[in-house]
Amino acid sequence: MPWPGASFSALFIHAGSRLFLRHTMSPAGPSSSVTSVTSVALGSVDDMRERIRRKRQLKGRQVDAQALAELRVLIGMPPQGGHRRDLLIEYLHRLSDAYRCLHDRHLVALAAEMRIGMAEVYEVATFYHHFDVVKGDAAAPGLTVRVCDGLSCTMAGAADLLARLPALLGAEVRVMAAPCVGRCEQAPVAVVHQNPLPHANLESVAAAVRANATAHPPAADTGGFDAPACAQASVTNGAVDTGVAPAYVGLDAYRQAGGYRLAAALMDGQQEAEGVIQAMENSGLRGLGGAGFPAGRKWRIVRAKTGPRVMAVNIDEGEPGTFKDRTYLERDPHRFLEGMLVAAQVVGIDACYLYLRDEYHGCRALLQQEIDRLRAEMPFPLPQIELRRGAGAYICGEESAMIESIEGKRGEPRMRPPYIAEVGLFGRPTLEHNFETLYWVRDIVEKGPAWFSGFGRNGRKGLRSFSVSGRVRSPGVKLAPAGISVRELVDEYCGGMLQGQELYAYLPGGASGGILPASLADLPLDFDTLQPHGCFIGSAAVIVLGQHDKARDAALNMMRFFEHESCGQCTPCRVGTAKAVRLMEAAVWDNTTLEDLNQVMVDASICGLGQAAPNPVRCVQKYFAQEVR
Ligand SMILES: Cc1cc2nc3c(=O)[nH]c(=O)nc-3n(C[C@H](O)[C@H](O)[C@H](O)COP(=O)(O)O)c2cc1C
Ligand code: SF4
Ligand code: FES
Repeated sequence: MPWPGASFSALFIHAGSRLFLRHTMSPAGPSSSVTSVTSVALGSVDDMRERIRRKRQLKGRQVDAQALAELRVLIGMPPQGGHRRDLLIEYLHRLSDAYRCLHDRHLVALAAEMRIGMAEVYEVATFYHHFDVVKGDAAAPGLTVRVCDGLSCTMAGAADLLARLPALLGAEVRVMAAPCVGRCEQAPVAVVHQNPLPHANLESVAAAVRANATAHPPAADTGGFDAPACAQASVTNGAVDTGVAPAYVGLDAYRQAGGYRLAAALMDGQQEAEGVIQAMENSGLRGLGGAGFPAGRKWRIVRAKTGPRVMAVNIDEGEPGTFKDRTYLERDPHRFLEGMLVAAQVVGIDACYLYLRDEYHGCRALLQQEIDRLRAEMPFPLPQIELRRGAGAYICGEESAMIESIEGKRGEPRMRPPYIAEVGLFGRPTLEHNFETLYWVRDIVEKGPAWFSGFGRNGRKGLRSFSVSGRVRSPGVKLAPAGISVRELVDEYCGGMLQGQELYAYLPGGASGGILPASLADLPLDFDTLQPHGCFIGSAAVIVLGQHDKARDAALNMMRFFEHESCGQCTPCRVGTAKAVRLMEAAVWDNTTLEDLNQVMVDASICGLGQAAPNPVRCVQKYFAQEVR
């Protein structure tokens, strides 16, 4: 409207086969009279019809009745009030599982059925690496074999598998590289659809494809795993524990061994919440997802916020080299579930959302089954518990990105403040924890905080679950004292280096934690001890390199990973990681330009991915300069 009170009208006028638009404009006021009439030629009626037809096709908004029926078989009819928006990714998974891709006809139907924009569905579907969006009548991709090209798998021969499998398996099978799948102690790993093959070779992959063995084998609940008894011992030994579905401690066995007594005591008031928080604080337990924030303090902060409060459990385990959460989860799920219930009761949580990485197909089945049993058999009321499935995006391990993903959106980290303890999942105060942080709660409270803090070496306190892989004789999860050095870890827990290998370098904290030379193999490994050396322990993923490996190759592998996994939201990280990869591929590094990039990534990236991406580069420049000059 050009001014208040003025009136404006528009009329389509048909003149022969031509179409005109006539505007009529009147000023405001009692003496208003028509002051202007304008006619605009719009072309022929047929032109107009054609334009509308094309526009409709472009938007693809016509819901195909058959596609809608197929969708409803998978997600059901809309409940009263409509489908929950936060379940979008779960629904995409159902489609993807059923059709091995996302056909755009199904996406159109899903958008209409959920009453959200097509663009919203599309932008979520295309964000996650595990979804293949297929247009029109194009065929779904064939059976997919993913070969891990993470550092440990690359050192164990993944490149050869990637090069030779396509010819061996034929055009019907899609062979692709995938970032670390969380089984580095079993390197190299290939995954045939959802079936992981440890120590994969050409024969084992071809046999699985021939046999159409595409599902993760089920596990039996006959295990006798005793986590505290593993303290200062190898939890797994890669040379021996080669199966992908170890027997686990089921609900009955866990309860018989005193499980859920602590949770029950809290529920009926025999155990006070304050005593539990104090035990957590006194144990010195710090978040084991990487950032190391004191767990007890986090509980107090979230408990002090106005409810309703929620919990988000981080089982994304995407940091290359890390496999501790999977190792415990697939052997002893209830110790973790009890820790979660205790935290929920103490902090006053109404709903717990468990975010599990998509690669852990066996863990997903096991966890869902045990949660269902818990609901059916526990004599006390449980909070709402929902298991959510990631979709192949490392960035969703970052806590605010994970929250976005649980809400059914692209996993893009949020700007802070506000912190998620205040405004988190669904806008509520949120307690977010790594799986393993919750795993130790029961033992810390039952055995007393001194049990946990009583371990330690070199002046450090507590236990750390190191995921060790690379050139060692016996890779696996090692539950060792905090502060142990890599030399001690390799000698005492891993049976030494592999035959013919000498320690040359090591990554103390996965992709983000930097690379250290053998000359610094006696540093205590713990939170805060490695920062002066440009590194950090993070999730305690230790990757060991031998004298024939190059630190520059390890750094390039990590930077390629960051480039692949950058969410793209901020330019320093999106462009910086890509540019760094190109520079690091050169035989001689342009260290000045690389350092410019490093600085801008550290200073201007929104989240820890971009901020930590320069760590391996800077370590090569500092400790392995001879490799890049
Ligand atoms: C890029 C990035 C990836 C992360 N990935 C994980 C992950 O896979 N698992 C995890 O527990 N924490 C991960 N974190 C740390 C989480 O943001 C968060 O600190 C943690 O889940 C908090 O739980 P905690 O206090 O029990 O450690 C990641 C952080 C960043 C910056
Ligand atoms: S730093 Fe990278 S991953 Fe993090 S928000 Fe920015 S673009 Fe995304
Ligand atoms: S499983 Fe391959 S590097 Fe981790």
